[in-house]
Amino acid sequence: MDLSGKHIILGITGSIAAYKSAYLASALKKAKADVTVIMTKNATEFIAPLTFETLTGNRCLVDTFDRNFQYEVEHVELAKKADIFMIAPASADVIAKAAHGIADDMLTTTLLAAACPKIFAPAMNTRMFQNPITQDNLSLLKKYGMTVITPQTGYLACGDVGIGKMPEPEALYELIMYTLCQKNLCGVKVLVSAGPTREAIDPVRFVSNHSSGKMGFAIARAAARRGADVTLVTGQVNLATPLGVMRVDVTSAAEMQGAINAQAKNSDVIVMAAAIADYRPKHVADQKIKKSGDNLILEMMRTADILADLGANKKPGQFLCGFAMESENMEKNAKEKLAKKNLDMIVANNIRTEGAGFAVDTNIVTLIDSEGETQLPILSKDEVAERILDEIKRKKFG
Ligand code: CTP
Repeated sequence: MDLSGKHIILGITGSIAAYKSAYLASALKKAKADVTVIMTKNATEFIAPLTFETLTGNRCLVDTFDRNFQYEVEHVELAKKADIFMIAPASADVIAKAAHGIADDMLTTTLLAAACPKIFAPAMNTRMFQNPITQDNLSLLKKYGMTVITPQTGYLACGDVGIGKMPEPEALYELIMYTLCQKNLCGVKVLVSAGPTREAIDPVRFVSNHSSGKMGFAIARAAARRGADVTLVTGQVNLATPLGVMRVDVTSAAEMQGAINAQAKNSDVIVMAAAIADYRPKHVADQKIKKSGDNLILEMMRTADILADLGANKKPGQFLCGFAMESENMEKNAKEKLAKKNLDMIVANNIRTEGAGFAVDTNIVTLIDSEGETQLPILSKDEVAERILDEIKRKKFG
């Protein structure tokens, strides 16, 4: 999803966390949003307006009494065209003003005039955050329909350790995407698998593969943004849980099968992006295997084909999507898997193609179903996820 045609107002108040908002502004601009930054005077002590002007390509607004700028009496126009208004970092002061309708500078006047979704990311000292006055003000913001992000706990710039840190820009970005995304999969139950499985050899070793989990996580994230009710069953990966997604962590193929089967009956759409071991060691040693001799032979046995089982027991109307990662004869092999596993669609890629596969952030896939195939160009995994969901939506819901 890109943000073409969306206008975002980013309010910045006086807090050391203001530097993080430069990353946020940059990410939003890269996603093609039209970003206007409004700063309080105190915010300019922490970061220069020029930073935001350079990143967004738009004039940064600081004060209602800036006589040189067209918005001096037109903040209402700016408020009208905003699709979303995020104040990050939000100081105790701006929270108090917003809660009580005080409008005494460019930021608070525009905020009061805006009818779009408003999100606050408080950032302040723990004692200020926990003060009942601040807490009451935050409750008031929520009462008036605004969103308040719970700050993180950690080491604060003032030296204290406690609650009050602004979340990282990636989390704020995701919340904006989540809020702005068209909710075209509302109420649809989507089950996604992701990542590698690990099959134990002994207490310290396992057999696995190079799957990073990025493709499956991108699908789960994109589905959640569209309003789907998403469960993500994942092998061991180093990725943050996407916003709004129910995550179930597993290790082995057998555990993955248990977790998938527990959810499958209640799922409208199942996307199996996990790289599941086809074989596991037949015997798992109780103790660490000591070295002896020049060779070690491991006897392996088949694991269950989870997707084939799902295909054999598909409930009426359920949409089943598999992946086929091939190193040769991609189309032929993928079509065979589509038929053999009773799938509605298979996403095929060739790991030998540069830009496709495990280690990279991009993928080059072909979507194959009974009607034919669609070859997609090289895309980010997030974009591939969007295209897969568009196709599923078109085929299942028209
Ligand atoms: N899959 C599965 N259970 C397994 C192995 C794979 O559910 N034990 C699923 C994968 O999540 C993927 C699809 O089956 O959606 C195809 O996986 P892939 O490894 O490409 O194919 P296999 O069916 O394992 O066939 P082969 O290894 O012979 O290519």
